[in-house]
Formats: sequence, structure tokens, C-alpha cells
Amino acid sequence: MTIDGPAGAGKSTVAKLLAQRLGFLYLDTGALYRAVAWKVRADGVDPADRDAVAALLPSTTIAMEYRPERPRVSVDGRDVSEEIRTEEISRMASIVSAIPSVREWLLPVQRRIGAAGGIVAEGRDLGTRVFPAAGVKFFLEADMDVRAGRRHRELTGTDRPAALDQTRQEIVNRDERDRSRDLAPLVPAADATVVDTSTLTVEQVIERLMAVIAAKL
Ligand code: DC
Repeated sequence: MTIDGPAGAGKSTVAKLLAQRLGFLYLDTGALYRAVAWKVRADGVDPADRDAVAALLPSTTIAMEYRPERPRVSVDGRDVSEEIRTEEISRMASIVSAIPSVREWLLPVQRRIGAAGGIVAEGRDLGTRVFPAAGVKFFLEADMDVRAGRRHRELTGTDRPAALDQTRQEIVNRDERDRSRDLAPLVPAADATVVDTSTLTVEQVIERLMAVIAAKL
């Protein structure tokens, strides 16, 4: 099952809850791009330098844990689950995700994890590119102001609070980059169910998705 959509549409919350309810694993593909960004930052590489980023990949090992109650990601043996949630890494992840060699490198990683099924995977290009044969595909959307508000609340719970207008601008920039890149841009798959979560509670979104799942399975 795939859940794609822009930042702040509610993917992570919903994907984790669905996985728990269905007894599925949870794959956060954004965390893979964030892990690459973390490595790029740790090595002092310019994320816009495509060749330098590509050169880092062969010596990078990313490992994940997929239980929806406690998803984790580590880079070269170091748990970076919290460190990859900053605005800086969000921006860098969006930049490195437009590099073809990064997407190519992460493609088999994601497919290997998804091969056995029984997984709720969230990202940007899962229904269109990574798992085109997925049994159920969702695309979550929400108004920009709603998405900025959600992301802002998330960040104020951390030690790096950001101003709301700054968070909004970061999301606008990231959206623009994710939707306009040449390779696997953010777009709903033709066979995805699109749900606008702007005026829905988490429980209402889950209900809607469960109804679609029940009809398809
Ligand atoms: O979902 P997220 O905010 O953690 O994702 C971080 C960035 O990674 C996002 O701006 C674009 C990129 N990404 C991607 O290109 N493809 C995916 N399947 C998941 C994330």
C-alpha cells in the first residue's frame, strides 16, 4: 500500500496508524532521502554538487526498522532518527532527492523492503515509480495554510522552533522543488485515491482510507 503527497498532508501520522491497525510494517521513504542528506551534511559536501553527492553513496550504509510504533533509521551504524527531522535536513533532502544517482541508488533499497508486501509505504513517487503495482494507492493533499500549521506545530514540539511564516515558506519552496523536478516528480498515480485532508481529523482520514482498503481487498 502506498501513500504519497506533499509535506504536511498528514502522510506520516496516517501511514503509521494504518500500519498498526492492519498489522503491517511501515516504510518512511522520506527518511531514506533525509538519511542521505544527513550524510552529505556530516561530510561537509554541498548538496547541490551532484558528483560529490554521488561519490558519497557507495560508502554509505542506511539501515531501517519498520515497526510503526517505533520506526528508526541509521546511517553507517549511527541512529539519526531524531537528527534528520530539522528544517535544514528537510531542505537538503529535497535538494538531494532531485539528483538522479540518489534516486537510482535508493530504488532497489525501497523495492527490496516492499517485496514481501504487508507494508504501508509513504513518500512522493511510490505509486508512480517505486511500487507501480501496489494493490492500494493513496495521495493525500491539504491546503498550504493547513500544512504549514501542522508542520509548525510539529516543530514547536522540538528544540528548534521556527516562525510560522518561515515554516510556510520552507514548505512552499520544497513543494515547488519536489513537484517540478525532472525525475519522479510529486504527482498522484493515475490509479491513486486522492484525499484532501484539510478539513478532516486524523480519525476521519483513517476511516476514509479504511473504507477504500476494505473495498479493494
Ligand atoms: O516526506 P519527507 O518530508 O520526509 O521527505 C523529505 C524529502 O525527500 C522530500 O522533500 C522529497 C524527498 N522524497 C522523495 O523525493 N521521494 C520520496 N519517495 C520521499 C521523499
